[in-house]
Amino acid sequence: MDHLPIFLDVRGKKVIVDGGTTVAARRVERALSAGADVHVYGTVFCDEFQPFAGNSDLTCHKRPLVADDFTGAIIAYGASEDDARDAHLYALAKAAHVLVNVADVSQYCDFITPSVVDRSPLVVAISSGGTAPVIARILRARIESLLPPAYGRMAQFLGGFRDKVLDGIKITRARRRFWEDMIEGPVGDQFLAGDIKGAEAHLTQALEAVGDGSELAQKGEVFLVGAGPGDPDLLTFRALRLMQRADVVLYDRLVGKEIVELIRRDAERIYVGKRPDHHAMQQEEISLLMVKLAKEGKRVLRLKGGDPFIFGRGGEEIEILAENEVPFQVVPGITAASGCSTYSGIPLTHRDYAQSCHFITAHGRDGVLDLDWDVLLRPNQTVAIYMGLSSLRFMTEEFQRRGVNPETPAAIIDNGTRPNQRVLTGTIGDLYEKAMAEEFKGPSIIIIGGVVKLRDKLKWFTEDPKGKFSMSLVPQGTL
Ligand SMILES: C[S@@+](CC[C@H](N)C(=O)[O-])C[C@H]1O[C@@H](n2cnc3c(N)ncnc32)[C@H](O)[C@@H]1O
Repeated sequence: MDHLPIFLDVRGKKVIVDGGTTVAARRVERALSAGADVHVYGTVFCDEFQPFAGNSDLTCHKRPLVADDFTGAIIAYGASEDDARDAHLYALAKAAHVLVNVADVSQYCDFITPSVVDRSPLVVAISSGGTAPVIARILRARIESLLPPAYGRMAQFLGGFRDKVLDGIKITRARRRFWEDMIEGPVGDQFLAGDIKGAEAHLTQALEAVGDGSELAQKGEVFLVGAGPGDPDLLTFRALRLMQRADVVLYDRLVGKEIVELIRRDAERIYVGKRPDHHAMQQEEISLLMVKLAKEGKRVLRLKGGDPFIFGRGGEEIEILAENEVPFQVVPGITAASGCSTYSGIPLTHRDYAQSCHFITAHGRDGVLDLDWDVLLRPNQTVAIYMGLSSLRFMTEEFQRRGVNPETPAAIIDNGTRPNQRVLTGTIGDLYEKAMAEEFKGPSIIIIGGVVKLRDKLKWFTEDPKGKFSMSLVPQGTL
C-alpha cells in the first residue's frame, strides 16, 4: 500500500482551494459537504461555482494566495491548472506544514483524493494510488450499484442506539457480536424492507434480553473454512463473511497473503503452517488450541487451503472439537485439483477421455504410500495427485512398471490459480525428467490421463511466472 487511508474530520476547519476551475469547484463541493470552512482563491470563477453562492461556509478571495492564508489551514488543494501557481502553492503549503494535493501533479501531492461512494454516514473511498484512476471509477460504479441508499439511512438509524448499546453492553467483544447479529439478522432485514418500527422494536427487545453481554461474550465457536487454492476471487461469500467475524485466526502455509489480508483487521493471527518436514505446530496442538480459544469465548477462524475435508485433516480437527463440545461450522472451499484443472484448461472429466476422476494423495500416514493401484490403472479416467511432487519419480515409474502406457499424457500444475501458476505437460514416461528442469517448489498437483491433451485447445488463463499481475485484472486477451 502506497498511501495510508484515513478519513479526516474537517468540520469547521480551514480548507484552502486554489483556482476557479471545474476541478476546483469539485474540491470545494466535497470540502463543504464534509463541513469545512472553505477558502477559495482565484481571479475568475467558472459557472460551476454558482451553486455555492451565499454559502456561509465558503469565502471567495479574488486575489492570489499569500503565506498568511495558511494560518490555521488543515489541508490545501491546487486546481488552478497553472504550473507556476501550483509550484507557488506547494512551496507555501510546505513552509506552513500544511498537507497539499495539486490535481494531476503527483510531485505536488501529499495525499490523493479517492473516488467516493457516499451513503453518509457510510462512506466508501477507493483509490488506485494514482496509477489507474479508471479502475477506481469502475469499482466505484460497481459499489454504487451494490449499496442501496437505504444503507446510509440504516447506519443513521443504528447510530441512534449507539449510546444505549454502549451503556448496556460493557464488554467490547459482546457489543461487536450484538451489532453483527442485529445487522445481519432480522433488524437489518426489517429496516431494509422499510419496517422501521419493527426494526426498532426488535432491537430494543434484543438489547434488554442481552443484559450486560457477559453470556454473549462467552459464546465461543469455531469456523472451519476452506480458502480455496489461492486466487482470492475463489473464496465463497460465506467464507468472506465469517472472515469478518473472527476474533482470532489460525491459518496454514497454503493460505496466501492476499487472502489473509481479507480477514477482519483486528483479529489476532496465529500461523500454524506446516511444511512437508517442518511442523510449525503439531496437528493435535492446533486442535487443542482451537478448543482453548473457543472456551475463552472467542470466535476462532480456522482457515485452510483448498477444501478442509479434502486431504486437509479438517475432519480430524473437528472430531476433537466435537469431543470437547465446542460448537463449529464448516465452509467448503474449492479444492486444489478442481482449481488447477480449470485454470490450466485440463477438465477432470470429458466424454471423450475420462468418465471418472480419482483424487489421491501421494503422502500417506507417516509418509508411507498405500495406494489401490488396481483402481488407478483403469483406462478412461483421470487421476489427480495431491502432494505428489516429492514422489513424482516413484509414481511415474510405478505406473509404467504396472503396465500403463508411457505415452499416457500427464501434467503438473504448480501454484495453480495464482498469478505465478506454471503448467508442465508431458507423458508418464517423460514427466519426471521435464519436471527436474523446472525446479517446481510447489504446491503442485499432478494430473494423469487423456484429458491433459485438451490443454492446448482449452488453455485460457494467462500465466505470469513473475507474478506481477493478478489474474483477476489480466484475463487473456485484454493486455
Ligand atoms: C495438505 S494438501 C491440502 C489440500 C487442500 N485441502 C485442498 O483441498 O486443496 C496440500 C496439497 O494440495 C495441493 N495444492 C494446494 N494448493 C495448490 C495450488 N494452488 N496449486 C497446486 N496444488 C495445490 C498440493 O498438492 C499440496 O501439496
